[in-house]
Amino acid sequence: MAEVNSTAQFHRSAPIDLMKEFTICESFARIDSPYAVALERPRSYGAMVGDFLLREGLLKKGAAVCEIGGGYGSLMQGLLSEYGHLIDRVYMLDLSKSLLKRQRKRLAPWSSKTTSIQADAHEMIGAISGIDLLIVNEVIGDLDTMTGIDPADIPEEAAEVIRAYDLDIPSCESFCLNVGAIRIVEAICRRNIPAFLTEHSSDPIIPEDMRYLERGLKLDSYPREIRLFKHSEFTIRFSHLMRAAAACGKTARTGSLLDLLPIRRTGDMRMIFTSRACSTERQEIIFELLDHIREYRWLTIT
Ligand SMILES: C[S@@+](CC[C@H](N)C(=O)[O-])C[C@H]1O[C@@H](n2cnc3c(N)ncnc32)[C@H](O)[C@@H]1O
Repeated sequence: MAEVNSTAQFHRSAPIDLMKEFTICESFARIDSPYAVALERPRSYGAMVGDFLLREGLLKKGAAVCEIGGGYGSLMQGLLSEYGHLIDRVYMLDLSKSLLKRQRKRLAPWSSKTTSIQADAHEMIGAISGIDLLIVNEVIGDLDTMTGIDPADIPEEAAEVIRAYDLDIPSCESFCLNVGAIRIVEAICRRNIPAFLTEHSSDPIIPEDMRYLERGLKLDSYPREIRLFKHSEFTIRFSHLMRAAAACGKTARTGSLLDLLPIRRTGDMRMIFTSRACSTERQEIIFELLDHIREYRWLTIT
């Protein structure tokens, strides 16, 4: 029977350890991170996101930026360290009181322009206004996901979004639908807020020059469960989000997170991944990172 997976109670009340979740942001939180060996030049994740936002014309002088689900505050710290001169106001919205506290500590040098808001993105997003850029990094997989949907007996809540955006679904196997993520995209479009989102995908895109990363990877599947400490998150079918944004009249662009990070495109990276040659710690780190990051996508909505 179909059910809704919600992580709200976990995020509201549990002590959250992001190191157990291996987020890309935390992997590159500092420039001396062990994963920096995979980069052409060491840079924090927040700075790399800033480079991308600037290139895409999403970060402009005097911007008011809102980050939903900012975790330890590492992305925003990196972004402000590099591009703080462009950002006038910062709003950090999170469900977790303890993470908001950690974010405030991390963002103390910018406290005069930072506001923390404890709220659920599902409820709050429709009320956000006066924002020039919304950042939602590795959060949408935590939002409500309907699981175990029988294609012959689809609950109305799922049927409504499938109809509204003409979403493809499997014809006979039961499947999961990222209802929360689709609703967030819908709200972002309605509020007219330029947005940048990333997440683990169920339909990854691999850059042309890194095709070797496709090995053993499902490139066109439906959301799957990722079991984590005391909660589960789900991979995101980005093609569904693209359809929702397009149907709302917005421009949605997407790609691999590998486009955003200057990962070294060298023969030894290919060799480590394809031969799984992990005889040194450096090789193990590179293999682990490539195996993880290849499933991630970014999405911008303007
Ligand atoms: C997987 S962590 C990602 C943290 C950080 N963005 C990163 O990339 O490392 C998910 C974050 O989203 C927050 N979160 C989860 N569900 C939320 C919701 N419904 N509303 C607001 N924040 C939420 C969590 O408290 C946490 O900060």
